[in-house]
Amino acid sequence: MVAPAQGLAVELDNIWKRFPGVIANAGTRLHVKPGSVHAVLGENGAGKTTLMNVLAGVYRPDEGTVRLHGVEQSFAAPADAIAAGVGMVHQEFRLVPTFSVTENVVLGAAPRVLARSALEDQVAALAERFGLATDPRREVWQLSMGERQRVEILKALWRDARVLILDEPTAVLTPVEAEELGRITAAMAADGRSIIFISHKLDEVTAFCDEATVLRGGETVAGNLAVSDLDAGRLAELMVGEATEVSQRRVRTSTPGDTVLKVDNLQVVDIHGRNVVDGVTFSIGSGEVLGIAGIAGNGQRPLADALAGLTGSSGSVQSGTHDLSSASPNERHRRGLSYVPEDRIGVGLAPRLSVADNAIMRTYRTDAKGLLIDQEKSIEHAEDLVERFNVKIADLHSPIAGLSGGNLQRLLVGREVDGEPTVLIAAQPTRGLDVQGVAAIQRVLLEQAEAGVAVLLISEDLDELLALSDRLMVMHEGKIVAEFDPDETTRSDVGVAMTGAVHAEEATS
Ligand SMILES: Nc1ncnc2c1ncn2[C@@H]1O[C@H](COP(=O)(O)OP(=O)(O)OP(=O)(O)O)[C@@H](O)[C@H]1O
Ligand SMILES: [Mg+2]
Repeated sequence: MVAPAQGLAVELDNIWKRFPGVIANAGTRLHVKPGSVHAVLGENGAGKTTLMNVLAGVYRPDEGTVRLHGVEQSFAAPADAIAAGVGMVHQEFRLVPTFSVTENVVLGAAPRVLARSALEDQVAALAERFGLATDPRREVWQLSMGERQRVEILKALWRDARVLILDEPTAVLTPVEAEELGRITAAMAADGRSIIFISHKLDEVTAFCDEATVLRGGETVAGNLAVSDLDAGRLAELMVGEATEVSQRRVRTSTPGDTVLKVDNLQVVDIHGRNVVDGVTFSIGSGEVLGIAGIAGNGQRPLADALAGLTGSSGSVQSGTHDLSSASPNERHRRGLSYVPEDRIGVGLAPRLSVADNAIMRTYRTDAKGLLIDQEKSIEHAEDLVERFNVKIADLHSPIAGLSGGNLQRLLVGREVDGEPTVLIAAQPTRGLDVQGVAAIQRVLLEQAEAGVAVLLISEDLDELLALSDRLMVMHEGKIVAEFDPDETTRSDVGVAMTGAVHAEEATS
C-alpha cells in the first residue's frame, strides 16, 4: 500500500546513491511525520549519513524522490534545502570559533538593519523557547561541545528549519547533556517540527524517539516502527540481521604482571596557562586494563596526547626500563607504546592518503628498502590488516576519507595493535560505533590485555569502562580524583566522582 502523500513532513522514496565501488543507498525509503522525533538506525556504513546528505542537499541522489510536506524537491545545493526548511547538524560542527554565539547563529541570515543587542535578544528568545541554554554573547571557542551543538541547532531554527537532522548528536555529549538534548528535541517536536535523530545508542532511541526506521546495507529493512513497541534487543536484531552479544564480560586478571607503564606527577599546561593535566600518577601492569572515566574536557585528551608524546609535558613516563619522559612520538612507538587517539582523522589517520598508506604509516620505516617504501610488502601488510580486522573498503588505493566511522576505527585499532605493543592507549575507541563495531573493538582490547599488553582505556562510556577495566580511575579538572574496583562499585558512585563531588568534599574538609 502506498501511504498518502499528505500529512508527511519528509518522504524519501527509492533513493539510490552510488560511490565508486560502494552503493551507499539502494532504494532507501524514509517517511517522517510532522511533530515527531524519528530515529534512523543502522550499522556503520548502512547509509544513514549519505541519506541525510541527500535530504540536506549535499548530494544529489542517482535516483529517487525527495518530498517535503507533499511537494517534490530537487536540491542542487545545501542552500536550496535550507530554503525549503531542512537543517542539518553535522557531526563535525561548522562554527566560527572566534565569533559569538549570536554571530554564528545569524551568519549569512541576519536582517540588514538591526542593532547587535536586538539580535542578541532575538537569539536569546529563540534559545529560551526551545530550552537551549546558551549565552548569546560568548565566543564559540569558550563553549563546551554540548553548547556548540546547541548553537548549531539554533542556527537551523533561526533559518526556520521545519525538519532538523541530527547526525549522531550525542556522540560528543556527556550523559547529562544528552538528556538535555532529549528535552530539546521533544520541545521542537511539540512545536510541529520533525527531528531526524541518528544514534547508535538504543537506550537513547527508546527514550527520545517516537518512530524508527532501520537501514541495513543501504536498504530500508523496517520503516516507521513505533519505538514504544520495541525493545533494544529487537532493534539490534533488525540492524545487524541477527542476534548479537551486546556487551562483553571481562574475566579480570587476578594479579597483573610486572609494571609496564609508570607515570609519575605528569603535568600538561595548555596555551592559556591552565594545568589541564595536574599531577597525574599511576602505573599499569602487564595484562591489566586501567580505565579512565570523566566528563569530556577534564584532561583526558591532553593526558593521552602527552603519553603518546604529542603534547609537551613534565613529570616522568617510564615504559619497562625505558625513560620516555622526553622521547619523541616515534621513539615511544618504537618502545612499544601504541596510541588510538580520540581524533581518528588527523591525529590517527591521514584523510587524503589511501587505506594502504594509512595501514603502513607506523611501520614504513622498518619495512623500507633504504629510503624507498617497499610497495609490494606494504600492500601485503595492508591487505592483511584489512582482512584480520574486517575493514570494509572498496579498494586499498582510494583515500580513506570516504570510509564510515566504524571502518576507520577498525583500520586504526588494527594498525596500532599490529606492531605488538607493550602499552596500548585507547581514547574513546568505540565512540560512534554500532553494536557490532563496539563488540569488535572491545574484543581486540581484551585480547591485547590477555596477551600481556598494559591497556589504558579512556572512555566516556561508563558501562564500557565497568565491563572492561580491572581498575577504574576518575579524572576531574586534570586530576585523578577517585579510584574504583569495577566489581565493587556502581555507575552512580562513579558518576558522582565524575562531577568532581568527591574532590570538592576533600577540598573543603
Ligand atoms: N564520499 C564518499 N565516497 C565514497 N564512499 C562513501 C562516501 N560517503 C560514504 N561512502 C560509503 O558509503 C557507505 C555508507 O556510508 P555512510 O557514511 O552513509 O554510513 P553510515 O550509516 O552513516 O555509517 P556510520 O554509522 O559509520 O556513520 C559506506 O560504505 C561508506 O564507506
Ligand atoms: Mg554516519
